[in-house]
Amino acid sequence: MTLRQPIISMMGHVDHGKTTLLDRIAGSARAAREAGGITQHIGALEVPLRTVEAICRGLIRADQFTVPGLLFIDTPGHRSFVNMRRRGGALADIAIVVVDMNEGVMPQTREVLQILRHETTPFLVAANKVDLVPGFRSPPTGQSLASHLRTLPESVQRDVDAKVYALSESLHSLGFSAERYDRIQDYRRNVAIVPVSGKTGAGLPDLLAVLVGLAQRFLEKELTLSPDGGEATILEVSEARGIGAVANVVVYQGFLKVGDPILVTGWETPFATHIRGIYRPRTNPSSRGTPAQTVDPIPEVRAASGVQISAPGIEKALPGGLLRAVREAAEVERARQELERESNPILAVVENGVWLKADTLGALEAMVFECQEGGIPIKGASVGAVTRRDVMLMRTVRDPTCRAILAFNVPVLPEAQKAIEGGDVQVIPGEVMYRILEEFRTWQERRRAELEQEKRRSIAYPAKFQVLPGFVFRASKPAIVGVRVLAGTLRPPCRLIKPDGSDGGTLRSLQAEGKTIKEATEGQEVAAAIDGLVVGRSVKPGDVLLVSLTEDAARTLRGENLTPAERSVLEEVIRIRRQTQPFWGT
Ligand code: GTP
Ligand code: MG
Repeated sequence: MTLRQPIISMMGHVDHGKTTLLDRIAGSARAAREAGGITQHIGALEVPLRTVEAICRGLIRADQFTVPGLLFIDTPGHRSFVNMRRRGGALADIAIVVVDMNEGVMPQTREVLQILRHETTPFLVAANKVDLVPGFRSPPTGQSLASHLRTLPESVQRDVDAKVYALSESLHSLGFSAERYDRIQDYRRNVAIVPVSGKTGAGLPDLLAVLVGLAQRFLEKELTLSPDGGEATILEVSEARGIGAVANVVVYQGFLKVGDPILVTGWETPFATHIRGIYRPRTNPSSRGTPAQTVDPIPEVRAASGVQISAPGIEKALPGGLLRAVREAAEVERARQELERESNPILAVVENGVWLKADTLGALEAMVFECQEGGIPIKGASVGAVTRRDVMLMRTVRDPTCRAILAFNVPVLPEAQKAIEGGDVQVIPGEVMYRILEEFRTWQERRRAELEQEKRRSIAYPAKFQVLPGFVFRASKPAIVGVRVLAGTLRPPCRLIKPDGSDGGTLRSLQAEGKTIKEATEGQEVAAAIDGLVVGRSVKPGDVLLVSLTEDAARTLRGENLTPAERSVLEEVIRIRRQTQPFWGT
């Protein structure tokens, strides 16, 4: 049985040291070259098992394992490559969650962990930057950290342990049980925390040994190489000098060869083309390093491996999508349907929901998942920048509290910006998913409150007031009197009713300290201009007047969120009306 290399994703918060750690692994592998060399490509690093053995010295014995090596993929912390996909699941077989042990679990760490749980991807935690613990000295190259730690001063051991413990606490609160790797009994139950330094290489042998163990123990079945077929995940599309547009892909199943007819996930729909060239760039795996200058054309590539593929129309390939060889004409239709299904992550769409945007399919999927978990309804989702079309579409959403576009790691196009300014569609951009969701919830709540306010302004609300003795400024046309609001909020203009059920005229306007005001609340004393009343005849100082309500309004208001005072005035108005019309408001 042949196994392919497990695909291992470096994940974690920005600047916690993913690339440094990967560079260090590459460096150690290069140093151990006599054992078998390595292949580096854009964002991916292949290390054969014999090289891993050489780095780990006595920790593992290559002849005890059947995995041929490890394929590492770097993912920049500020981008959404954290959830690259393959057919039917996550691209990563195993993840290394890199955490700066001095900073602990950060927002993006949490996000990564949530995704890993969702995908049930096995992972270990690299507690990085252990060299910054005061008094720490790195072990000689190749020596295990666990035994070396015991030779360090007790205070250093304590500090390291305290940091590891803090990490395991954070992980625990997220639902994972984690332990320092050398104290773990059962790797199936516990997540291993390996203290390492990307800078000095401390802990690297231990990390690799744990990795190989995980790969062998958990994944044998999934890593079995099928002889035919050929599938790859598209990491990104870029320009390669002298070649033109290429897709950087990780081949995770079967093989791809020049001339193969392929189907590729596109921005709109899957498209058919054929492989013109396969290239293995020679470059530093560091995302900070200079881009590939030289590429080696190769006739064929086997899983698992990272390569560049050129093909007519490849610039339309969707990052996060799939590339699949379809060597039999009969396969094409089924493959097309599968690709289409894979690129549509939404299970249940609703009319009144938000629109999701993200830079890759994997990220979009993660967003859909988070929204569904959080009970946020989704109208639709698409990969790419926020366009005018997205905005126009969202304008038609009936529920104004759903007219939002949640944009993860994508820009808003200028034409879309114009459309936003003209309407009430809210775009919520960001680089951390759960922050976007939080911000959306805050916006939604504020919007709800605003709408409530607007509605209140448009219909009469229950309120009552008393005409104050001694403050009659004018007897009629309109009557101008001092009043005190007894309950609710007065908002002119509104019809009034007297407690005996007779007409109380129309409240035209309110003034306080000589200025017209829009409303007066309970307890306020203001001057009121009332049409259709004559003070002394139809109303006397000391009398109480209520805001009159239509029957419809009374019915609606019953179901509304009224204050206790408003509710009691509403009941009073209904009682008054029913003296003459027994079924009023039913
Ligand atoms: P993004 O790709 O931007 O998400 O960052 P990253 O996780 O790849 O981090 P990167 O490797 O770029 O490291 C960030 C900074 O931390 C750099 O200045 C590194 O030199 C430093 N750094 C990384 N690992 C270590 C370590 O083990 N010890 C110390 N002291 N510094 C480290
Ligand atoms: Mg990096």
